[in-house]
Amino acid sequence: MTTTHEMLEALRAGVDERVAAALSLEDLDEVEATTVGRRSPVADARRALGGVEPEERPALGRYINEVAKDIEARLAARRQELNLQEMAALLAADRVDVTLAGRVPRRGTHHLITQTLDELVDIFIGLGYDVATGPEIETAWHNFTALNIPPTHPARAESDTLYVEWGDQDEEVLLRTHTSPMQARYMMMRPPPVHVVVPGRTFRRDAIDATHSPVFHQMEGLAVEKGITFADLKGTLAHVAREFFGPSQQVRFLPNHFPFTEPSAEMHVSCFACEGAGSGCRVCSGVGWIEILGCGMVNPAVFEHVGYDPSEVTGWAFGMGVERLAQLRHGMTDMRHLFENDLRVLRQFV
Ligand code: PHE
Repeated sequence: MTTTHEMLEALRAGVDERVAAALSLEDLDEVEATTVGRRSPVADARRALGGVEPEERPALGRYINEVAKDIEARLAARRQELNLQEMAALLAADRVDVTLAGRVPRRGTHHLITQTLDELVDIFIGLGYDVATGPEIETAWHNFTALNIPPTHPARAESDTLYVEWGDQDEEVLLRTHTSPMQARYMMMRPPPVHVVVPGRTFRRDAIDATHSPVFHQMEGLAVEKGITFADLKGTLAHVAREFFGPSQQVRFLPNHFPFTEPSAEMHVSCFACEGAGSGCRVCSGVGWIEILGCGMVNPAVFEHVGYDPSEVTGWAFGMGVERLAQLRHGMTDMRHLFENDLRVLRQFV
């Protein structure tokens, strides 16, 4: 029969080999559990001490402790070794070669609409204008009433305008159909003189096709002071057209009607494709001219709505379609290219 001594001695003798064979911390836990753990020969020996003759007990107890300590010391040494190995492996796996060439992030660009707006705004800043933006969700009062567009006007119909709240005229809220409501807001915020442009997004109940989109962009312009005339309007807009399209750009003004300007006009630029020749040109349908904006002298009724005195000041205003200007400038015949976000198209405008 093997004695406890012999059994423990054999355990101790075999432990070095087992510890060396443990290649991971889990392996080592296993060795620990089966040598000095709670269910191990050492634990069994401790439990059995009670049944040992009292005079042998202290010596055997010391011996068990000595073997246990010995084994634990070897386990601890190996554990430290394995820990270091594991850390080294982690560091090796996480290693970053800081001398490698970096990855250059792909640079985006502004959308063509934004580029066009920026350029237009810059031209006006050069003339001393301020830049303001207004809310895209407007009251019907600012969008229509203040601009002398009566409740019966067809533009106010649900078929033309996207309403948020519809019905009671005083409460109506809508997606602005032009940037013109900012004329009213801006004048109500400050006394004359006013020189401001308002770039922004506008909305109409239109189906998408080559020349329409329910969401589009405009830039409004407004100049109000004592003694402003239609000559100022013409001079300013002709200058802007030449800055934007080039010095040889021809412009012309044709009568039009807007409730908030009187008299009103539309401005045309000579066709970029046929240089005004017209005949046979598909871009301008043979006319030689292309309309780019509506404009006119601010209607005194608008001044009255916003609290300006029409006997004191005069003013002119315009609203231009930004998509149209971008298209004209780049000879893009279908407006949908601007919204489909096909990168092959967008990347051409960097
Ligand atoms: N708001 C008009 C439109 O959207 C354009 C315009 C603005 C006309 C200012 C005259 C003066 O068609």
